[in-house]
Amino acid sequence: MARITAAAFTSHVPAIGAAMDLGKTQEAYWQPVFAGYEASRQWLREQKPDVVFLVYNDHANAFSLDLIPTFAIGTAADYPIADEGWGPRPVPPVKGHPELAAHIAQSVIQEDFDLTIVNRMPVDHGLTVPLSLMCGERPADDFRWPFAVIPFAVNVVQYPVPSGRRCFELGKAIRRAIESFDEDLNVQIWGTGGMSHQLQGPRAGLINREWDNAFLDRLIADPAGLAAMPHIDYVREAGSEGIELVMWLIARGAMADIAGGPAPRVKHRFYHVPASNTAVGHLILED
Ligand code: DHB
Ligand code: FE
Repeated sequence: MARITAAAFTSHVPAIGAAMDLGKTQEAYWQPVFAGYEASRQWLREQKPDVVFLVYNDHANAFSLDLIPTFAIGTAADYPIADEGWGPRPVPPVKGHPELAAHIAQSVIQEDFDLTIVNRMPVDHGLTVPLSLMCGERPADDFRWPFAVIPFAVNVVQYPVPSGRRCFELGKAIRRAIESFDEDLNVQIWGTGGMSHQLQGPRAGLINREWDNAFLDRLIADPAGLAAMPHIDYVREAGSEGIELVMWLIARGAMADIAGGPAPRVKHRFYHVPASNTAVGHLILED
């Protein structure tokens, strides 16, 4: 049986990918950001997941205003790296897990969640930056990502976006789907995006440390209560792009305690401002 062993949560920022790709991680500005992920990289090497179910958002690279799926599951064998305007990042393509992804699609759609099935999809910084942060520098040219990835794209760009409650319920259904897959796989689920940031308009540059840290506290200890928070609170308190944080509730909803099991163990927690225009938050919860 496949099992979820841990959830990881992390911000994404394109400039983090650029800092890694251009060898700037030891510069004074970036060093504290990457220091917050050293323990996570060691942890991930020890955990050796077979598959990471990676909840993220596309930024008008795979999708656009022409086509806006609320929830899209990648069922492909491979995902190319998106060209976001300055060429694709120099990281390897992402290997999928079509069998598990198809099983999850089957199970979750049967439970009345409308997923879009995607067989061809370039992945942008929303997915590759969390991978780079968690996996570390590429040690060699023949580097490959050390696990398969099921990309799960959530619309948090064009309103209406899904509610926290729906994301949380979806996480529960994803857990049931993964646990009913008849192969012994170590699966992690990652929630990515956030924390507070606003990239445009009069409030551009908004950061809210207090709110972000309260969000981390509640994500750990009161996820069901947090899931009831309306969109307007994210936008008011964490900025227009802070709404990316609803995606974290999908990963949190997939954890054992939500299904009646024991509370997760907080393995690592990190918060740092700034990285580009964004507050970086990071959490690892073990089941
Ligand atoms: C930044 C953050 C994002 O989440 C994003 O998608 C693009 C840019 C930033 O802080 O620069
Ligand atoms: Fe983003």
